[in-house]
Amino acid sequence: MATMILGGERVDANEHIEVTNPFDGSVVDVIPKGTPKDVERALSIAEAGAVRLRKTTAYERYEWLQKSAQLLEERRDDFARTISLEEGKTLGESLAEVSRSVETLVLSAEEAKRLCGEAVPLEGASGGKGRFGFTIRVPCGIVVAISPFNFPLNLVAHKLGPAIAGGNSVILKPASDTPLSGIKLVELMLEAGVPSDALQCITGSGGTLSDPLCGDRRVRKISFTGSFEVGDKICRVAGMKKVTMELGSNSPLIVMDDADLEKVIAATLVTGYGNAGQVCISTQRVLVDRRVYADYLDGLKAGVEGIVTGNPLLEETKMGPMIRQRDAERVTEWLSEAVTQGGELLTGSERDGAMVKPAIIAGMKTDMKLFRDELFGPAVGVMPFDDIDEAIAAANDTRFGLSAGIFTENIGRAMKFAQEVDAGTLQINWGPAWRVDLMPYGGLKDSGMGKEGPSYAIREMTEEKMVVMHL
Ligand code: SIN
Repeated sequence: MATMILGGERVDANEHIEVTNPFDGSVVDVIPKGTPKDVERALSIAEAGAVRLRKTTAYERYEWLQKSAQLLEERRDDFARTISLEEGKTLGESLAEVSRSVETLVLSAEEAKRLCGEAVPLEGASGGKGRFGFTIRVPCGIVVAISPFNFPLNLVAHKLGPAIAGGNSVILKPASDTPLSGIKLVELMLEAGVPSDALQCITGSGGTLSDPLCGDRRVRKISFTGSFEVGDKICRVAGMKKVTMELGSNSPLIVMDDADLEKVIAATLVTGYGNAGQVCISTQRVLVDRRVYADYLDGLKAGVEGIVTGNPLLEETKMGPMIRQRDAERVTEWLSEAVTQGGELLTGSERDGAMVKPAIIAGMKTDMKLFRDELFGPAVGVMPFDDIDEAIAAANDTRFGLSAGIFTENIGRAMKFAQEVDAGTLQINWGPAWRVDLMPYGGLKDSGMGKEGPSYAIREMTEEKMVVMHL
């Protein structure tokens, strides 16, 4: 049975939560339902860990993270199977996630060595004569990392890697639907040498644990990935703390009339239906030039109907289930509602348990939930436009702003898109869901604040101090 890991000890609780395989509902494992008492225990251990880690050298932290990456590479098949069993993504997608996680840890290790301050030319100010100044970066202290269900390993690595690289003590609270990959990663990192008071894992329901964890004044930094609603609540409870919020989106893809439609269709399939659409930057709203609208829909329909759905552990499966049946039900409800509002269901949307057949709604309208909210499921809505200004206005007609894409062969249109669409990432000639782990990743508007990507996250997980020498 999986347990919490507090101060290096495996800790159980009186109550438990079942972790189920979303494909067939079978129980994969159970985890302890931690209580506020466990939070207090983790925090007092983490205080000692923060003091200890502050005294370590960057090279020591580099070595722990490198070793962690090496161990993870050696155990990639085991981790990939765990991801597929608890999350439902295909084995191929899980293996790709493990490879990305190895790289995230290596990037974090490298950042431990690179982290530095800068010289500040004080004599450039009128009162600065005779002074020499520079900044240094020091750890925040205790970092709380709250991770989502959809990338249960790599989005944990994105929080633990930079936190440890920066010399912090970190407490992980993984998603209660998919906690096993995160627990295993914590165990592996402890084995790689990270001190047991500097890396802990508490499990249970977010509702019970998040207030005492995030509201505690000993915590200096919170890194959260998840929904806007939960992120907003955490920010209110957190008060005066540094926070990084990676929240949701309903990302647009603009298809201009000069686009290569074959590439557009291939990109829509990968970026709209990968991980059953449960990616924060999934393509959700496709805005297509009216002149190529019909051809795009024909090609997309054929492509979507070719996606093999089923058991994520089978090699032929290209799309697995959603995380829970209730989410699958919500997705099919939104699609039916879109049809009653005038949309046309071109294919898909049949549901069996948590599995939803990949779907397309043509004739999407701006008042549909499919346009306004975050679907987080295997469907895209498609609507035509007549000129690029109309397309950009529709792309921006949302409270979110995480990622967006455009297909065009015209550099002027591409740059107009990059300058005028409000999103944290702009993809030219690909869909919104493309990421390598060293790039800055984070959203605008209700998609959050702050950036992940180890070289950016380590800055958010450290404080800058100014040193002035009066010569
Ligand atoms: C996310 O869904 O927030 C992460 C997407 C990714 O890392 O590819």
